[in-house]
Amino acid sequence: MTSVGHAETRGIGPSRLFACLRADLGVFCSQELMEHTLAILEHNYPSIEDLRRRAKRRIPHFAWEYLDSGTGEETALDRNRQTLDAITLKPRALRGKIAPVLETQFLGRDYSVPIGIAPIGATGMMWPGAEMDLARMAADKRVPYGLSTVATRTPDEIGPIAGEYGWFQLYPLGGDGVQEDILKRAQNAGYKTLVLTVDVPINSRRERQRRAGFNMPVKMTPSMILQMMLRPAWLMGIAKHGQPRFKLMEDYVDSRSVADVAKRLGPEMRPNPDWSVLDSLRANWDGQIILKGICNVEDAVQAQDVGIDAVWVSNHGGRQLDAAPGAITVLPHIREAVGPSYPLIYDSGVRSGLDVARALALGADFVMAGRAFIYGAGAFGPRGIELALKILSDDLANVMAQVGTNDLAGLRDAIK
Ligand SMILES: Cc1cc2nc3c(=O)[nH]c(=O)nc-3n(C[C@H](O)[C@H](O)[C@H](O)COP(=O)(O)O)c2cc1C
Repeated sequence: MTSVGHAETRGIGPSRLFACLRADLGVFCSQELMEHTLAILEHNYPSIEDLRRRAKRRIPHFAWEYLDSGTGEETALDRNRQTLDAITLKPRALRGKIAPVLETQFLGRDYSVPIGIAPIGATGMMWPGAEMDLARMAADKRVPYGLSTVATRTPDEIGPIAGEYGWFQLYPLGGDGVQEDILKRAQNAGYKTLVLTVDVPINSRRERQRRAGFNMPVKMTPSMILQMMLRPAWLMGIAKHGQPRFKLMEDYVDSRSVADVAKRLGPEMRPNPDWSVLDSLRANWDGQIILKGICNVEDAVQAQDVGIDAVWVSNHGGRQLDAAPGAITVLPHIREAVGPSYPLIYDSGVRSGLDVARALALGADFVMAGRAFIYGAGAFGPRGIELALKILSDDLANVMAQVGTNDLAGLRDAIK
């Protein structure tokens, strides 16, 4: 990265304003200017929480509440944070040269950092065009991006952009041949890694989201229209990218109406299958399968026993069961049960590189973040997504130096 003097990036006066404007308008004459802009943004918005605050001011309230909320009283959401915050790492001194290496291999592929983008439904509603921006950034920075079944773009559109860094997330689907057809489309689009999400046996109640008027099926109200009018940057994005739609699912319900799709995506198309679903999945998927949304030892061991390639430990970011344990508290027990070399992914509550380090220390091989990247998108569009990854990566490298390890495996010693 181009070195930028401290005074230039201090965040006062016009340089910050122009950096924000450049990020908003996507005006970059050169790579150097782009890096300069990112450096200024990073100086002024050094944490995910900074991005979150700015995103909140730019995303319409109903969409914000969909993104930021948990379920129930949001105790699971809070618990994810409390349990992560409670994990301390052992600082080490006089460990010699500091040069942390973040590059890693996972499921046979190389990634620049052990960090990826978790699947987020309706991403393009929270920030227009975000699925394309996430896919571009994933391919450019060599990190995985999980495209949701209920994204506003299809795997056919996103697969070629994300390339080998694309993972496709599937909710188990009913309906005549729907699931099979979607899997075929995903494979034709180049996806080789399938993520089956199994922690949504039923839509959770999401009270905060409902209070904001964002109900299923979606019904546009005068209040929502007003909320959109109050967010000009978001509106400009909609003008450019079009109204957000569940583009993949609408192909199977013969309707472009978000309300129709949401209605059919209820019990009719979302059965809650048992473990036998994996047999039919294997018959229709020629690639790796990851099981996402495991938050107990028994299910993790069963997944390993039936030959799933990796387990993704998660409580869906506190959005499903409000009494769920902090996902990070379950992770070390799962690691112990599945042995040292079985591939494990962690998500839920990750807001810093320190959180990534905590999860790696407790047994994860790879760590995903959901909201953190969408806060970035809402704050600064594509530059914000990049900034979110930079914040997480730089912080991880910093923590590794503090605990005296240059390699990711060494983080496991920091917990003892
Ligand atoms: C707004 C929102 C939408 C989500 N949609 C999906 C989805 O479509 N499929 C899925 O598997 N997980 C979905 N998740 C869960 C994320 O993949 C991930 O597990 C969670 O966000 C991790 O917690 P974090 O946001 O604290 O990082 C969603 C999460 C959020 C916040």
